[in-house]
Amino acid sequence: MIQRILYAGSFDPITNGHLDLINRAAKLGDKLIVGVIQNRSKKPFFTVEERIDMIAASTEHIKNIEIDHFEGLLADYVKQKNINVVVRGLRAAMDFEYEIHMAQMNARLYNNHVETIFLMTSPDYSFVSSSIVREVFLLNGDISGLVPDKVLEYMKNKCKRKREEIV
Ligand code: COA
Repeated sequence: MIQRILYAGSFDPITNGHLDLINRAAKLGDKLIVGVIQNRSKKPFFTVEERIDMIAASTEHIKNIEIDHFEGLLADYVKQKNINVVVRGLRAAMDFEYEIHMAQMNARLYNNHVETIFLMTSPDYSFVSSSIVREVFLLNGDISGLVPDKVLEYMKNKCKRKREEIV
């Protein structure tokens, strides 16, 4: 039986694609832990605190959620938090190649005590990623419907603050 599920990612920022997965994954276990990570291969736009705030604001309706952050190996975090399932989203066939290697490496690292399960992303969001949403937003494109309304507000406020710092 699934008890504690981890959904990890950079969430820079959380998008409606992530939220769709969070909503569905929360129904599968007793507790869903959303783990925000500083991905070493990426230069973040939002701080970890900002990303956590945006996730919290977008998931107030979910009772069995815990939002946390971690550094280092996902496998170590999984052990430390007694997680028994890691959930990942598949948006398209190309995600599969990357995900299978990650799932296999993680299975090796946590000695097969934890399963990785995959949920198919809703087709409405299969083209969405945090960086594409950020890029379109920063170039004044319309991203409404692709991120939660509260996240869009948050992004607008962050840009306004940045502009005010410059002048
Ligand atoms: N809807 C919308 N966007 C989605 C999505 C969905 N359902 N699923 C993924 N994405 C987007 C993400 O926003 C991300 O966008 P970005 O590249 O523009 O930031 C992109 O697709 C890739 O997502 P993901 O593969 O989940 O990358 P990530 O950086 O968010 O998270 C970790 C990757 C955290 C799972 C991985 O780096 C990790 O496990 N790190 C820990 C270190 C470790 O253990 N390494 C060994 C692994 S074997």
